Amino acid sequence: MTNNAEGKNLEKKESGDLIVVDRLKKYFGEKKAVDGITFRVHSGEVFGLLGPNGAGKTTTIKVLLGLLEPTEGTARVLGFDPLKDDVVMKQRLGYIAEEPLIYKSLTPFEVFEFIASVRGLDGDKVTALAKEYMESLGALEYMNQNIATLSRGNKQKVQIVSALLHDPTLLIMDDPLLGLDAKTVKVVKEIIELHVKRGGSVIFSTHIMEIAQEICDRIAIINKGIIVGIGTFEELRKQADKAGASLEDVFLRLTEQDASVTSIIAKLRESFLGKNGNV
Ligand SMILES: Nc1ncnc2c1ncn2[C@@H]1O[C@H](COP(=O)(O)OP(=O)(O)OP(=O)(O)O)[C@@H](O)[C@H]1O
Ligand SMILES: [Mg+2]
Repeated sequence: MTNNAEGKNLEKKESGDLIVVDRLKKYFGEKKAVDGITFRVHSGEVFGLLGPNGAGKTTTIKVLLGLLEPTEGTARVLGFDPLKDDVVMKQRLGYIAEEPLIYKSLTPFEVFEFIASVRGLDGDKVTALAKEYMESLGALEYMNQNIATLSRGNKQKVQIVSALLHDPTLLIMDDPLLGLDAKTVKVVKEIIELHVKRGGSVIFSTHIMEIAQEICDRIAIINKGIIVGIGTFEELRKQADKAGASLEDVFLRLTEQDASVTSIIAKLRESFLGKNGNV
């Protein structure tokens, strides 16, 4: 933020919903990756994007970041058009990509230093904060090791820390828990909750239903490019007509996979164990 006028402008733009997606479509040739979705993410919310593989979650997230141009419809993030205002918008965003985009020839320490310099942050403060995050994620010992030599999960930790260093208003995370061990998942869950307690907001995609059920204020379930359920966990249970059910059962019902998963398992058992369950 460079002056008061811009500051007021940002305040005004942020007074409503942080993300407004309206009848968004994204086609790749014949492939309808996203086929007309509408949703909003409110300030102070943890919003979950759930959906089977290929449902359109990453495509939606890439549109929010201005990495893909919509085929039809609109997306606004923090009041901005991601395609036009991406520099201002990105100052307020923390993004964790599905595939880690970090510089593999650098060490985590060098990446964090680089982020501090391009974002104009205090180098010492960033280093202290990065060390604290890396320690909480059990990765402090890798601070000076080349990223190319780190395991997938440890690379993911570097990406998560990189997205947090400038204290973004909105965290956009595409499958941030992918490949993380159970303890780290708990720590990341805490980081997300603390981020919101300190006034931030989060939209993230995940396949881990228990985590989504625990931390999301609202969830959109996407299937084949369309939203098939949206709301709080209780609202989703109603939409699926599954009172008292787990999010996993609600998810399978809304994505019409509950019957197919039962028949797939029965077919596999028959193939491998025989009709009577004998090998
Ligand atoms: N660049 C592209 N060109 C063609 N098709 C694409 C492209 N990107 C994505 N798709 C297709 O769009 C659909 C949605 O993909 P997307 O990556 O958004 O799914 P997703 O919900 O993130 O899945 P996952 O859970 O596996 O990450 C898929 O069928 C995918 O193959
Ligand atoms: Mg994806």
